[in-house]
Amino acid sequence: SWTMKSFIDIEVEKIRSQVGDRKVLCALSGGVDSSVVATLIHRAIGDQLTCIFVDHGLLRKYEVESVVETFSNKFNMNFIKVDARKRFLDKLKGVTDPEVKRKTIGNEFIYVFDEEAAKLEGIDFLAQGTIYADIIESGTATNEVIKSHHNVGGLPEDMDFELIEPLKALFKDEVRAVGAELGLPSDIVNRQPFPGPGLGVRVLGEITEAKLDIVREADWILRDEIAKVGLDREIWQYFAILPDIRSVGVRNEKRSYDYAVGIRAVHSVDGMTADWARIPWDILEKISTRITAEVEHVNRVVYDITAKPPGTIEWE
Ligand code: XMP
Repeated sequence: SWTMKSFIDIEVEKIRSQVGDRKVLCALSGGVDSSVVATLIHRAIGDQLTCIFVDHGLLRKYEVESVVETFSNKFNMNFIKVDARKRFLDKLKGVTDPEVKRKTIGNEFIYVFDEEAAKLEGIDFLAQGTIYADIIESGTATNEVIKSHHNVGGLPEDMDFELIEPLKALFKDEVRAVGAELGLPSDIVNRQPFPGPGLGVRVLGEITEAKLDIVREADWILRDEIAKVGLDREIWQYFAILPDIRSVGVRNEKRSYDYAVGIRAVHSVDGMTADWARIPWDILEKISTRITAEVEHVNRVVYDITAKPPGTIEWE
């Protein structure tokens, strides 16, 4: 649209004059805000921007591939992907308390990011996908760990970056429109909210690679079926959870003792309150049938029919 085009033109000019011939670093999470900010800054200064993407192994199916394809291949950015999957799993071994889990993931993210950043030379600026909502509700959950850390806790002491926050005045739908105008693919621009700790808070109790695989596959089937019937733009957030529960079932006339998967789907405006989505039963049936047939070690699917409050959207 005209407004988004002129926003981009104006910001590109501002970024160019602010940065000059210096260098900018950006932490890409794959979320909407950091993706748009990276693309906007890349439009302005090209190779003077370097992006760091930490693969913590807690992302959903095909997300890593989509980020690499978009930023590394399509936009050809200076793009550093850090494979930190093992490192995160090691740190998370034995961690079951939800808050400790969140802190462990958040802290590890910062360590990995800082280590990578320290290898780079001559960086003067840090780009952040801060949007208007982050400013007015600072203190509540933001969807990027790095963001909340740097915003709330300040920058690490040995790094004194200047901040670039070109989306600071925008609402979420405007950020999406800018992203679309910049040529970002729709799976990134229309990505549903996703917590910084990722699938880590959707595998209840201790996180293992096997459990992550189960929740990732179940989540993929759910998203696939929801998209097929066009409900993906109607429902605010929908995802699979793996509670630490196994139950008895029967398959091929044999008793099984396997995991139950939970489905959560909610309508919400801002995540502060929510109501469970009335997904038609025949679609739920399809989802349940596919998950139990296609995901190994799952013999039962349950649907969460709790509003927020008293529930939260996530289970941890
Ligand atoms: P809850 O579960 O508190 O979630 O009802 C409200 C919204 O916030 C997201 N969420 C998080 N986002 N870091 C984030 O960046 C987190 O630790 C976190 N926990 C929850 C959740 O997905 C929902 O959209």
